[in-house]
Amino acid sequence: MQTDSSRPDALRIGTPLSANATRVMLLGAGELGKEVIMALQRLGVEVIAVDRYANAPGHQVAHRAHVIDMTDAAALRALVEKEQPHLIVPEIEAIATDALAEIEAAQLATVIPTARATQLTMNREGIRRLAAEELGLPTSPYAFAQSLDEMKAAIATIGFPCVVKPVMSSSGKGQSVLKSDADVEPAWNYAMAGGRVNHGRVIVEGFIDFEYEITQLTVCAADPESGETQTYFCDPIGHVQVAGDYVESWQPQPMSPAALEKARDVAAKVTTALGGRGLFGVELFVRGDDVWFSEVSPRPHDTGLVTLATQRFSEFELHARAILGLPVDTALRAPGASAVIYGGLDETGIAFEGVAQALAVPGADLRLFGKPESFVKRRMGVAVATGADTDEARERAKLAASKVRPVSAK
Ligand SMILES: Nc1ncnc2c1ncn2[C@@H]1O[C@H](COP(=O)(O)OP(=O)(O)OP(=O)(O)O)[C@@H](O)[C@H]1O
Ligand SMILES: [Mg+2]
Repeated sequence: MQTDSSRPDALRIGTPLSANATRVMLLGAGELGKEVIMALQRLGVEVIAVDRYANAPGHQVAHRAHVIDMTDAAALRALVEKEQPHLIVPEIEAIATDALAEIEAAQLATVIPTARATQLTMNREGIRRLAAEELGLPTSPYAFAQSLDEMKAAIATIGFPCVVKPVMSSSGKGQSVLKSDADVEPAWNYAMAGGRVNHGRVIVEGFIDFEYEITQLTVCAADPESGETQTYFCDPIGHVQVAGDYVESWQPQPMSPAALEKARDVAAKVTTALGGRGLFGVELFVRGDDVWFSEVSPRPHDTGLVTLATQRFSEFELHARAILGLPVDTALRAPGASAVIYGGLDETGIAFEGVAQALAVPGADLRLFGKPESFVKRRMGVAVATGADTDEARERAKLAASKVRPVSAK
């Protein structure tokens, strides 16, 4: 790999589309990947965007775009051999991570943050056992089950209320909160239908009655003096989840000093254990001074879209810098918030009305992702806003989002 002669741990940036280009391949090119790609483009990196469907948001801003099934190990390996990226940046969980481990072992490319991190975090069992059993971090009580009978046995020890989730799933798919015996069988059936790959395996978690939940964005990046990897923290992000999907987030979330310290301690431990460089989204539950680890994304987090408005460098720019071995600055610029814009209709090639009204809201900005197909509950855009405080910013972001109306263009 080409490195900077004055900073051997930093990638040397060449000229895109020439023999000395610094090439980065995004596996997943949704709205989060699109922002990472634009950050890399600004730094003169050659970017290859990969997704499972054509004209994905990130495809539209990359040097080259490919459509493959990223869970197909052979197809993934063949594409990496053809494109020869220096870095591979997973943006989603559903990837043939064993192929990434082989690519890393063969030194074909550096996997961000590490192939092992992508393997552990794609499966709730891997990351939960690492966090709770190896690192001793506080989590909800939990047990794994492989059948309805095993699940009943697990619930007998954990008790109600509890949460059942397929071990391989995201965005709340296949997930239920159980309050009594009557909920058990429906929860099992729902989990079996909602898992990403039907492994027939679930996690049962004790329900944490948290006051609020946060994403602690954590960056593992080079120290500008020594080049050693250091841990940097963004201000905590508060958010609201509805049916496993984030609908609103804000930054900074006020926390007691003790809770903030615990959150950062947990975040540092889990990201250090996963290793490598890049930005991580550590999901934590908080009540008073108590903090529970929930899960972690080894990549930018959807709730972190708020940083497009609030930070000097967004989470996407921080990720781009960190993976290139460049210094980061996690400073907050202003309190802010984000509010999701859903499709509201099932159709290809939709249009947006009310954009001018949305952008007339003081302190507000928009991202319209450019997804080729809209679904009622598909995230098609986001409004972000700054304000004097997060209350004002939340009002502004929600108002701006409400002005945008996805409509049929037919
Ligand atoms: N043990 C728990 N106790 C209380 N609430 C929970 C628990 N587990 C999950 N939740 C709630 O459900 C949300 C989604 O859970 P989780 O993050 O595990 O699912 P996910 O499918 O990975 O979602 P995403 O991909 O959107 O992060 C959490 O953000 C939290 O609001
Ligand atoms: Mg989550």
